[in-house]
Amino acid sequence: MNTFVTGHRLARELGEWRGNAPAYQSLAERIRVLLLDGRLSSGARMPAERELSQALDLSRTTVAAAYSKLREDGFLESVRGSGSTLCLPGMERGEHSLHSGLPFDFTKATAPAYPGLQCAYASALAELPNYLSHDGFDMVGLPDLREAIAQHFADRGLPTSADQIMVTIGAQHGLNLVARTLYSPGERILVEQPTYPHALDTFTSLGARILAFPVRAESGWDVQQALLQIRRAAPSMAYLMPDFHNPTGLSMSIAEREFLAAAADREGTILVVDETTALLDINRGPLPPMASFSPNIITLGSLGKLAWGGLRIGWIRSSREMQARILRNRPAVDLGTPIVEQLAALALFKDLPSMAASRSRELRRGRDTLVQLLQELLPQWSLNIPNGGLSLWINTETMSSSALALAARSQGLALVSGPRFGLDGAFERYLRLPFCYESTQLRHGVAILSDIAGHVGSEPLRLPQQAVI
Ligand SMILES: Cc1ncc(COP(=O)(O)O)c(C=O)c1O
Repeated sequence: MNTFVTGHRLARELGEWRGNAPAYQSLAERIRVLLLDGRLSSGARMPAERELSQALDLSRTTVAAAYSKLREDGFLESVRGSGSTLCLPGMERGEHSLHSGLPFDFTKATAPAYPGLQCAYASALAELPNYLSHDGFDMVGLPDLREAIAQHFADRGLPTSADQIMVTIGAQHGLNLVARTLYSPGERILVEQPTYPHALDTFTSLGARILAFPVRAESGWDVQQALLQIRRAAPSMAYLMPDFHNPTGLSMSIAEREFLAAAADREGTILVVDETTALLDINRGPLPPMASFSPNIITLGSLGKLAWGGLRIGWIRSSREMQARILRNRPAVDLGTPIVEQLAALALFKDLPSMAASRSRELRRGRDTLVQLLQELLPQWSLNIPNGGLSLWINTETMSSSALALAARSQGLALVSGPRFGLDGAFERYLRLPFCYESTQLRHGVAILSDIAGHVGSEPLRLPQQAVI
């Protein structure tokens, strides 16, 4: 299905798009970045030239020239009478590539497979015959795997029984199930700013009105803002990443956890806590899971970052009543989690401590290498050094990260610009750089960034007010 982009929405997404180049060129470039980093999708129908020129307060000739440039470069198709549609050159509409096709791809904060993964699959295949007499449509998860996941919470100090666990096809699937269950049309959803882009995609696809409160490198979660938003707008749910937050890598303090859990309970907002990154500890040490502070909290988890993104095994922990509600919604989305993957996950759970230790060593090496490279080659960028997670959230201070992403592409490096992690064009000066890559890749990537940084948008930008609605 084609999506329609209105002039107003595009104006919001564009943020501060003007640069030194002629207006039509800057506009075309910014639309191209929005398409490349996923803020606009291939196949989306663009506003008519007249509508966009009104929304941007620009002449129609400028918009027409920008569209014409996009058409020339293969990013727009126009058919007389049916408007203009975005497309990625060399791809079918709406099709997504697994890789950017560039030699260096820093768009994904995800590490290669855990070395023990193949053994886990081998043991899963050996176990499989024991399951072949069942129908194989498994909507809640294999009992042993649910038990292992429940035990994993208990080991972290949060007593949990297997019937509080649903096994899902990764955390993203879990989030979709939970959001479909909690959200009703017209309601609001509260998120951190910045946040995980595909959570925004999920909430946007439901038609939700999204509110945000800030998470800052210097001061952490602005819980007072969160409280204000919860009181004023009564969101049905709030989506949080308290442990090694993506993209900042920050961890929420115990006091902040207690405060937010109590505020949400008082006001009737359900906290959905995404722990996909929670086991990526480099040098922090354990903190109590957020769900220790309220029985109403729903927790999402995944083996995607620890074991392998391709495993596609995650889980939802919640009260039994909530499990029943989520289960009622599941058949509309899918008919169960694959069995072989669940058996492999079960084998991996037996190996969890060594898997976490091995990831921690790799991430420490990557983080320290990337920090050192940036301090040497781009000392003007402000870094906050996280003690876990997969990425640095960098404040370039003056640079347009969208322009940087575009220039990097032409040098063979794929990047995601800051605004993909925020609402309404926020974080234009920010860049997420994952450190879960080999040292040689990190060196090449930073060398490219350092080469282009000198001539990309070095003048201070007139940035839009950071949107904290
Ligand atoms: C915060 C967060 N949640 C969810 C996901 C998706 O997890 P999964 O691959 O298990 O669906 C990711 C993956 O990048 C993530 O960073």
